[in-house]
Amino acid sequence: MDSKNFIRFLSFTFIITLLLLTLTNLPLTNKAIQQLDCTTNSPQCNRRFIKQPPKPTTRLHSSDVPHHPLDPLTLTEITKTRSILLSHALFANKNTYALHSVVLEEPDKSVVLKWNHGNNLPARKASVIARINGETHVLTVDLATGVVTPLDVGYHSGYPTMTIEDMTSSTWAPLENPDFNRTIMARGIDLKDLACLPISLGWYGQKEENRRLIKVQCYSMEGTANFYMRPIEGLTVVLDMDTKQVIEITDKGRNIPIPKAAGTDYRFSAQNKKINLINPISLEQPKGPSFVVENDHLVKWANWEFHLKPDPRAGVVISRAMVRDPNTGEKRNVMYKGFTSELFVPYMDPSDAWYFKTYMDAGEYGFGLQAMPLDPLNDCPRNAYYMDGVFAAGDGTPYVRSNMVCVFESYAGDIGWRHSESPITGLEIREVRPKVTLVVRMAASVANYDYIVDWEFQTDGLIRVKVGLSGILMVKGTSYVNMNQVNEPENLHGTLLSENVIGVIHDHYVTFYLDMDVDGHNNSFVKVNLKRETTESGESPRLSYLKAVRNVAKTEKDAQVKFKLYDPSEYHIVNPSKLTRVGNPVGYKLVPGGTAASLLDHDDPPQKRGAFTNNQIWVTPYNKSEEWAGGLFTYQSQGDDTLAVWSERDRDIENKDIVMWYTLGFHHVPCQEDFPIMPTVSSSFDLKPVNFYESNPILNIPPNVEQDLPVCSAASSA
Ligand SMILES: *[C@@H]1O[C@H](CO)[C@@H](O)[C@H](O)[C@H]1NC(C)=O
Ligand SMILES: *[C@@H]1O[C@H](CO)[C@@H](O)[C@H](O)[C@H]1NC(C)=O
Ligand SMILES: *[C@@H]1O[C@H](CO)[C@@H](O)[C@H](O)[C@H]1NC(C)=O
Repeated sequence: MDSKNFIRFLSFTFIITLLLLTLTNLPLTNKAIQQLDCTTNSPQCNRRFIKQPPKPTTRLHSSDVPHHPLDPLTLTEITKTRSILLSHALFANKNTYALHSVVLEEPDKSVVLKWNHGNNLPARKASVIARINGETHVLTVDLATGVVTPLDVGYHSGYPTMTIEDMTSSTWAPLENPDFNRTIMARGIDLKDLACLPISLGWYGQKEENRRLIKVQCYSMEGTANFYMRPIEGLTVVLDMDTKQVIEITDKGRNIPIPKAAGTDYRFSAQNKKINLINPISLEQPKGPSFVVENDHLVKWANWEFHLKPDPRAGVVISRAMVRDPNTGEKRNVMYKGFTSELFVPYMDPSDAWYFKTYMDAGEYGFGLQAMPLDPLNDCPRNAYYMDGVFAAGDGTPYVRSNMVCVFESYAGDIGWRHSESPITGLEIREVRPKVTLVVRMAASVANYDYIVDWEFQTDGLIRVKVGLSGILMVKGTSYVNMNQVNEPENLHGTLLSENVIGVIHDHYVTFYLDMDVDGHNNSFVKVNLKRETTESGESPRLSYLKAVRNVAKTEKDAQVKFKLYDPSEYHIVNPSKLTRVGNPVGYKLVPGGTAASLLDHDDPPQKRGAFTNNQIWVTPYNKSEEWAGGLFTYQSQGDDTLAVWSERDRDIENKDIVMWYTLGFHHVPCQEDFPIMPTVSSSFDLKPVNFYESNPILNIPPNVEQDLPVCSAASSA
């Protein structure tokens, strides 16, 4: 319809446009990273500075084949899954199905561990979550035999992750309702300037049960691309996501003005005053990158090797991470699988248009589905390798999310290790090693917010997982234009960021699944508690000192950890049956970064659903079907299938195949610098070898020398 065409309604992901764009891209291998000879000041080298770098483009993926048991479903396999399903009796009435997830059903861990390069692949199977006639089904599709097996996952409240089509159609649906149009126009908004968002509504009791609901809130795009800063405050549409029927329209913000457009656009092209404080910067690798990506998914760099795949729900999945021992040359297991299991983002405003904003971005929206193509030279440096996501749309047809993940070597000018001698020793020693790391990066844009997730591998065996928050705040309209009008600032629920704009206080919790297998899969979780000891009178001039006391966790409850600054511990995952030369169990420790804990009441409905954030660490026995901390079906869930519920079983975890869960948390009280877009805020945690190696594993790596790093000077002309 013509009238619809000029209304620039936005869905989260512009998926339709992307779909068309990616499918019409010319095939070009990502591996064709240009390598120039930069060993001298050659003209070729100089050209780097004047030539546009090759843009990574997408392959069509139509001829992809799996090489590894963990390789994601290929485009062909997704197409095949769809055709097997459509000829199955369950799908007889083809109009009423949606596939909410189509991913590889990973073979059992024991099968993957036994598999070696060159062996036949184990049976390729798809794991499908489908809704058919309003019922949720979990199905396994054997791609070779065509057999479809329904899986009994028991009863759980909640619905599967929304499809992109659910989100897109929900933003359009209110327009079919004349009351909605009237309400918008009554707020002085031209319907052509409307932008609406599909907002998951959590779960708040019976009246929201037994149907799939969504709330829609809208913004004015007039005069800015940053419509998020122009909320039509207090207007909420409740929609039945299946029938697209408008159930309720609440408009409690009629007296709240729409904030102005001026100063909200963040695009470089929209800035009047452009400033250039620093010269262009880039990482030079005269001999090219040191990593390879074999068979599309196996990353090999320095002493590391791991399998990497994009995932529609988790974003990226790192599997089979192994590090080579410098003494024995042996590849040693560190982690079987690691990924972002869930995000929980509660906002701190109990009013009508805000209380329900308690997002779970992985289980509700799909963290990987929201990961947009990365921007070469800005998201990832030159020499990055780009990996595409191949996912299934709601009707089961495959599509390509191009350049969704990048892999690159990073040198930030940091030091790997160093020592220099003072002249008083008479020794002239200055030994330093530069720190070069390998980064796997994705960036999800879940509506307004952007999450950057990095898995960074270091040559000393450390893995750093970093989450960066950027993008645009979810803001609230207000009639206040200055703090001098506000009597009780704490009741603003946030910070006045600009005239009529409040940045609402919120938290972010990012929960990681870390299936550590340190030198094999029988591991134990050990809390190494730092305990103050006091001396006996006369024993020492000292009154107190610290002892490290090891406590091995026997069951799940022993491993539920809340951090305490004045009762600290180290958290080790050790292999009790593998000792170092001097008898310490080999291990890795979790080193938490800055973190925040959820302070919400445990009985508050969002905290029940997000109960996996009640502790910062949990350890569970490995169970293939316990991967999603917020439950398999997170949407509108009631919290009956979370990590907190599983852990209550208090199963044995000593000297067993165990999974560690860690939640990185942020409290965010917005400030004016976050307007109109946020400078990145980051936090990270480390998985660090602890008595894993016999000694410093990077003594034998060479320092940088001048002749390996020629200085390329900029050419004056082409
Ligand atoms: C609401 O407005 C849009 C845009 O003008 C129009 O396409 C749609 O038909 C209207 N809906 C109703 C029910 O009138
Ligand atoms: C792990 O421990 C179990 C007993 O808990 C034992 O049966 C199994 O053989 C062990 N596996 C390995 C790989 O050591
Ligand atoms: C594995 O996880 C599922 C889902 O939580 C549960 O039903 C099952 O009992 C678990 N198995 C074991 C052995 O704990």
